Amino acid sequence: MNILILGSGGREHAMAWKIAQSPNTSKIYIGPGNAGTALVGTNTPIDTTDFDSIKTFVIEKEIDMVVVGPEVPLVEGIHDFFLQDQVLNTVPVIGPVSRAAQLEGSKDFAKNFMNKHGIPTAASETFQLETLEKGKAFLESLHPPYVLKADGLASGKGVLILDNLNEAKSELESMLRDARFGEASTKVVIEEYLEGIELSVFILTDGVDYKLLPVAKDYKRIGEGDKGLNTGGMGSVSPVPFATESFMKKVEDRIIRPTLSGLQEERLNYQGFLFFGLMKVGEEPYVIEYNCRMGDPEAESVIPRIKSDLVDLLEGVANGNLAEKKIEIDDRYAASVVLVSEGYPGKYTTGKTIKGINNLNNCILFYAGASNDISSDSVKTSGGRVMAITTLNDSMDEALKNAYANAEIVDFEGKYFRKDLGFDLK
Ligand code: AMP
Ligand code: GLY
Repeated sequence: MNILILGSGGREHAMAWKIAQSPNTSKIYIGPGNAGTALVGTNTPIDTTDFDSIKTFVIEKEIDMVVVGPEVPLVEGIHDFFLQDQVLNTVPVIGPVSRAAQLEGSKDFAKNFMNKHGIPTAASETFQLETLEKGKAFLESLHPPYVLKADGLASGKGVLILDNLNEAKSELESMLRDARFGEASTKVVIEEYLEGIELSVFILTDGVDYKLLPVAKDYKRIGEGDKGLNTGGMGSVSPVPFATESFMKKVEDRIIRPTLSGLQEERLNYQGFLFFGLMKVGEEPYVIEYNCRMGDPEAESVIPRIKSDLVDLLEGVANGNLAEKKIEIDDRYAASVVLVSEGYPGKYTTGKTIKGINNLNNCILFYAGASNDISSDSVKTSGGRVMAITTLNDSMDEALKNAYANAEIVDFEGKYFRKDLGFDLK
């Protein structure tokens, strides 16, 4: 099969790396890709939301399957575009249709869906500019901290958690009146704060059956001890020790299965990865958010733990016979540490030469914001998150130690990484 992967991060490098190992794969193209995807396939400078250009490319290169990494093309309807096109409608797209991608694209939609189908989540109400005063009154009825969520996609920045009531009211006003997050905050979901520990659960589904993928935990804040600004993700570990068998049974019974039956009931066609951002409160799971894709940087620790042929599983998704497929998981622990550019997540430096990668040992390197500089035949930093270093070892401690040892070997000016991943799991 010829496979096109859309996206350019560490997640897409991990997908391309895994897909390249399949005997079913002929050619892999990654649009737009990065320095890492260029090692396992062919990069093509494509905009992931320019569906007409994608169509031309798919026809020209005789692509047999499109795997969508990020959420934006899914929410914008890439799968629908393929289904409606007479030439493309036989080419499977891994990722849901736009209406189903609303699970991530609209927090209000996701909340209504969960409430309708009895899926545990924080109590909430949604407000618009016309109901601003009601929103302020609702805030008064809650205890701090106050959780405000822009309804639409906001690159992971649309959630505010505030301790002070007046500040929460004025942020609500700025979201609704001044469009603080643009169109994404035309509606704002205010929800109850859940005290607990987060984890990321992933499935692959053909819309009816599903395969549970390894459970992971990501680390979002820039600073150690989960302090400082939010980032795209500073690392991940898999598995998660507190996601015990009995807890995961609750997750499957109360969250995963009701979500799939809810999707079917509402005739929402879902083929692809589904990501449940969960909070474990006491021993009970609650959904914080749905994402219609794999997580990043979770993919960098989850995908290397899948022993089975990913292309075979994706074919099961596309053909609706996932139930017939087997998934085998590596028992070892994965740790993935993300190396970032100086200044990130604020304004950061780029164009720094990356050295030392030939000296890495017993790890997998997934590039993210890194590109090939043909003029100097070197790889240079080109983004905030530059790469993830993933290790697989017999214990989490060993995996982390190994990842940090390799993170020290990579060298680029201004390199930073968190050295405390897994600190909350001991
Ligand atoms: P989201 O963009 O929905 O993942 O939210 C960003 C982060 O805000 C989450 O990863 C949580 O750490 C936090 N968060 C979101 N909703 C809640 C909630 N109801 N209670 C506590 N923390 C939350
Ligand atoms: N790691 C969280 C996300 O991918 O949204």
